Amino acid sequence: MVNKYDVVVEKLKKYNQEHILNWYNELDEYTQQTLLDKILDIDFELLNNIYRNKDKKVDMDNNVIEPINVIDSQNISSDELEKYIQVGEASIKLGEYAVVTMAGGQGTRLGHNGPKGTFLLDVIPPKSIFEILCDKFKIARQKYGVIIPWYIMTSNQNNNETIEFFEKNEYFGYPKEYIKFFKQGELPMVDESGKILMEEKGKFKEGPDGNGGIFEALNRNGIINEINDKNIKWIYVGGVDNVLANMIDVVLLGATIVNGYDISSKSVQKNAPQEKAGVFCKKNGKVSVVNYTEISEEMANQKDSSGSLVYGDMNILSHLFSINALNKIKDTKLEYHVDHKKADYINENGQKVIANEPNAYKFETYMFDCLEMFSDMLVLRTKRENEFAPIKNKEGLDSPQTAKELYLKNI
Ligand code: UD1
Repeated sequence: MVNKYDVVVEKLKKYNQEHILNWYNELDEYTQQTLLDKILDIDFELLNNIYRNKDKKVDMDNNVIEPINVIDSQNISSDELEKYIQVGEASIKLGEYAVVTMAGGQGTRLGHNGPKGTFLLDVIPPKSIFEILCDKFKIARQKYGVIIPWYIMTSNQNNNETIEFFEKNEYFGYPKEYIKFFKQGELPMVDESGKILMEEKGKFKEGPDGNGGIFEALNRNGIINEINDKNIKWIYVGGVDNVLANMIDVVLLGATIVNGYDISSKSVQKNAPQEKAGVFCKKNGKVSVVNYTEISEEMANQKDSSGSLVYGDMNILSHLFSINALNKIKDTKLEYHVDHKKADYINENGQKVIANEPNAYKFETYMFDCLEMFSDMLVLRTKRENEFAPIKNKEGLDSPQTAKELYLKNI
């Protein structure tokens, strides 16, 4: 009979990753078996392929990149606006709307010890990001007389802490049965030379598989079925870190329905060509977002005759999907991207190393890549000061301080 250990050793040798078993003999039997099973599950070919493409930028020569048509919410006539509000409100009142918040990220830039949504904004009294988001559901409940379901995507790294936080805070007074948590998948992280990093002696380092993991996770956790069963027709998908996220926006919903789109997104105008944000465009005739990690200098800086950025409408992680669109996306494998991140690990002597600089590559899918399955969508430009106050960095731009100022101006 073929021994599992031998199979694993062969596999690791082939991909030059034998170090994963360095401390195998020191582990108890359960940890040994878990480690072997997890190694057998790793698709090293896939990891190698992604790793080799780590420096890839968007190829402007071999892809047709064009600006996308954007509707500025400031230019919508009052008649149209009234119609959108009426249609959007009617859909929400019929219980056709649900929200998904992507909260599985590690929030490394902010340096907060815990899930990002548990970060307390220094207002009076202090409020966590999760509570700020939950307030929006409570306001909608009063306004439209419906309890909108809220699905929160977590990861292995922060799932328990997130649920405990909601429990401790009694779900901020929102009915508990309308808030559901589901976990996204994860992938091993590698060092600068492509070797898998070790978290501890019997465990290699893994990170959440990117916010594009949302579709597979919604499906795997039975949420797509639940949404279909509940007759929900529209799903808003947003990030966890924008305290001004307009998650229940009747104008976006109404405009999407009235104009016959299956997907739509909000945008704001970039502050500067180098702002760390993805931008909307058309790529080979399909709608697309090019992220800041992959945009070329040329594309980021391109200006039109009036001096405005040609690719200046940025993604603020505020997306709306019809259930038809979601059903179409759910089985699609999204492309992997590579992020250079800080990751603590144990070295070959078994000593813990704290990373002060990016030292690891993390493989991620981006949820907006699913947009490329569609030839058209609505991009609705909104006012930055009203709808975009993200908490990303410890200080400076997009920090708790800037978010607090904008939040206080809007309540
Ligand atoms: C993100 C967008 C970028 C956009 C910017 C606006 C992506 C890939 N990038 O950049 O285009 O302009 O926000 O603020 O969407 N998350 C998970 N699981 C993961 C990784 C992330 O749930 O595995 C969640 C995070 O918790 C967060 C959101 O996705 O809510 C954004 O993640 P982050 O990695 O911080 O993206 P940014 O670099 O800020």
